[in-house]
Amino acid sequence: MSRRKQIYEGKAKILYEGPEPGTLIQYFKDDATAFNAQKKATLDGKGVLNNRISEYVMLRLAEIGIPTHFLKRINMREQLIKKVDIVPLEVICRNVAAGTMAKRLGIEEGEALPRSIVEFCLKRDDLGDPLVAEEHIHAFGWATPEEVDEMVAMTLRINDYLRGLFSGIGINLIDFKIEFGRLALAEGHQIILADEISPDSCRLWDRETNKKLDKDRFRRDLGNVTEAYTEVATRLGIIKPSGPNGKPHLSVVSNEE
Ligand code: C5P
Repeated sequence: MSRRKQIYEGKAKILYEGPEPGTLIQYFKDDATAFNAQKKATLDGKGVLNNRISEYVMLRLAEIGIPTHFLKRINMREQLIKKVDIVPLEVICRNVAAGTMAKRLGIEEGEALPRSIVEFCLKRDDLGDPLVAEEHIHAFGWATPEEVDEMVAMTLRINDYLRGLFSGIGINLIDFKIEFGRLALAEGHQIILADEISPDSCRLWDRETNKKLDKDRFRRDLGNVTEAYTEVATRLGIIKPSGPNGKPHLSVVSNEE
């Protein structure tokens, strides 16, 4: 790792300079944080699972025409991505009340929402990523009205697709957070999906039992966090149910170079 120039270190990922101009290497750490990094742990294997799950999801989304930053997976923990200017917003899409929305609006967790709802939070760790309105986004210039419209349209399309994808493997997509970036073009720029989509950034509940298969297992001390992520990867067909020693096996099922 030391041979590369580190560009940025986040809570769960590190970005290194890529081999070509306009590229970066995204490294998935095993670190988990919650509540704005007040709670921290290292979860063995989480980075490997998120690298694989995010690769899988980004590739499926590219197939339905969503532009993404993903280029290729390099190894168990790293992927090559397009370099973008991250839009300083977290875009959250919700289908079922949970987490901060359930708390903020006094809705029981698990209650289906009348329709999918898109929210924006400002990416500011020092402020705890506050919820913001489109008015703030336009007025403070974090994104233009056209960019906001594009992000909302893409988010709803991603939501539709991912709900179906997860439903096919017995999982309800409760909510998720995504980030977008501006990709520089010869003229102007294009808004593309960036960051990651994994059980760190989604709420995924088993359809039959409502068992949580996502980062809430860590946030709420439910235990078996990587086991839950492994379950998601297994159901997606990314890993084989068991290896030679009876343990889940990170085999090559799809999209391997
Ligand atoms: O905590 P909250 O209910 O607002 O989270 C909504 C969704 O966004 C959840 O799936 C959560 O995992 C994700 N999220 C995230 N990163 C954040 C905040 C929320 O991935 N900083």
